[in-house]
Amino acid sequence: MLQIWDVNWFLDDQCPCDMHFVEWLEENRVRGKTVFHFGTGGHHHVGLANHAKGAPNHILGITASPKEFDDFVKLAIEHAELSRHYQVLFGDIYLLNPRLLPGIDIATLFHLCEFRGESQDAYGGLTDAQVLDKILEAMPNGGLISLFTGSFAGDRATSIAMAAVAADKLIRLSDYKSLQFYRKI
Ligand SMILES: C[S@@+](CC[C@H](N)C(=O)[O-])C[C@H]1O[C@@H](n2cnc3c(N)ncnc32)[C@H](O)[C@@H]1O
Repeated sequence: MLQIWDVNWFLDDQCPCDMHFVEWLEENRVRGKTVFHFGTGGHHHVGLANHAKGAPNHILGITASPKEFDDFVKLAIEHAELSRHYQVLFGDIYLLNPRLLPGIDIATLFHLCEFRGESQDAYGGLTDAQVLDKILEAMPNGGLISLFTGSFAGDRATSIAMAAVAADKLIRLSDYKSLQFYRKI
């Protein structure tokens, strides 16, 4: 059985990563980029904020929560133009297949290292480091990876990213609020 996330996560100041990411996009006037967003929440804030601003970017989210996915379907029906620029994959990120991904300019791996358990061994789930590698496969040089320092697994996620820095796959950039940024080289 697939390991699902049986929660519908609401937007919450205690987990500001999506809000900070939307602010970073705006402050840096990011336009025309394809964003892979790990962990949509049931609020779908990243996709809806992009929609509200006239869809400057193209967002592909992933959720392992059936309830959050249902909420995306409802939103896509309610707002006919939403799904042109915001789509959501339902599945386990530890099964990520770069052959099914578009070229990614920016990936938010805010929840890296939070959800890998032994149950994913039963179906050959990736490790967290392999998730980063799969994202990098779908990313041109110059693409950006963002991590969330407020994650309970943030230290482990940072270690994985810093190992990629040591391997000359990434360089670390300046942080923005609760977010770290790395550039693929
Ligand atoms: C704590 S919520 C955070 C949502 C949003 N990023 C926020 O900060 O408000 C975690 C998110 O990760 C997603 N998630 C959990 N396990 C996952 C997995 N194995 N694969 C893909 N997404 C997963 C959940 O569906 C949920 O959207």
